[in-house]
Amino acid sequence: MKKLKFKNGDTLDAIGLGTWKSEKGKVTEAVKIALKNGYKHIDCAAVYGNEAEVGEGLSEVFKEGDVKRKDVWVTSKLWNNAHKKKDVIPALKKTLKDLQLDYLDLYLIHWPVAFKPEVDGFPESADEYLSLEEAPLSETWNEMVKAKEQGLVRHIGVSNFSIPKLKELMAETNDTPEMNQVELHPYLQQNKLLEFCSKNGINVTAYSPLGSGDRPDEIKANDEPSLLENPAIMKIAKKHGASPGQILIKWSEQRGTAVIPKSTNEGRIKDNLKSAGYTLDEEDMKEIAGLDYNFRYVTGKFFELEGNSYQNIFDD
Ligand code: A2P
Repeated sequence: MKKLKFKNGDTLDAIGLGTWKSEKGKVTEAVKIALKNGYKHIDCAAVYGNEAEVGEGLSEVFKEGDVKRKDVWVTSKLWNNAHKKKDVIPALKKTLKDLQLDYLDLYLIHWPVAFKPEVDGFPESADEYLSLEEAPLSETWNEMVKAKEQGLVRHIGVSNFSIPKLKELMAETNDTPEMNQVELHPYLQQNKLLEFCSKNGINVTAYSPLGSGDRPDEIKANDEPSLLENPAIMKIAKKHGASPGQILIKWSEQRGTAVIPKSTNEGRIKDNLKSAGYTLDEEDMKEIAGLDYNFRYVTGKFFELEGNSYQNIFDD
């Protein structure tokens, strides 16, 4: 499997286990299955509401002793209600407590969007937001830097940042995020963003690599295209004796990004890691390149309320 490299020499296994939408009652077991079957990369976030259950899985496996904490990469993300200076490190400490860890490998600003601190979950009205003037991303970033200096996290980065937002953050802080985690799959190939990140030494992680068909209905369109049933993906899968999911995962890995398919199903957790074992040839890559049409499953529209300052979150 490919590994992503960081400036200090650390490396990250490209394929990780995603935990967004993983049910509390299933995720502990999913994490255990993943770690016992060779995953070394687990992706989490406070807002997924299941970090305590992920932490149970991590702790049980580490206690058994075959897998060591130092050999596993754990990512988590700062939720939008904790962007104010005083809130960043406490939010991180809560995540560490839930995950039963004393450091994270990577901590990301989850969205370039800020809520008032008292907002639990998702705001229902525009006045529950803070504008980026009220909660500048550079201020949040400076706290992330402090968290790193304090040894609470090894690496820091962002998620859902467009090129303009990355440029602005970099200009304001004179610093560069180590990771940008974004939606990335054959319908949303993000070539310009990948090029920008590559030029600036920013690693990229692909979320929703399988199209996140298990998203809640409120953030799903009725007529969404299926990635797993795309005829070209199905044809390439058949050619390699792989499943469509494995082809989608392999495609991201082969392009040099990290990729975090979510599964709580034992067979699929194992199969997804095995995606690394296939190789897509030039013809496959060319055919998949032709599927791009800038389609987002996670549109960010849920943050764009009338009267708040967040419109066109992805600047596209
Ligand atoms: P399950 O958890 O039952 O395996 P994404 O990673 O894009 O968010 O997609 C997650 C969805 O894809 C979940 O519904 C998950 O279901 C399903 N899934 C995970 N791995 C595969 C696979 N290899 N083939 C088909 N569906 C998969």
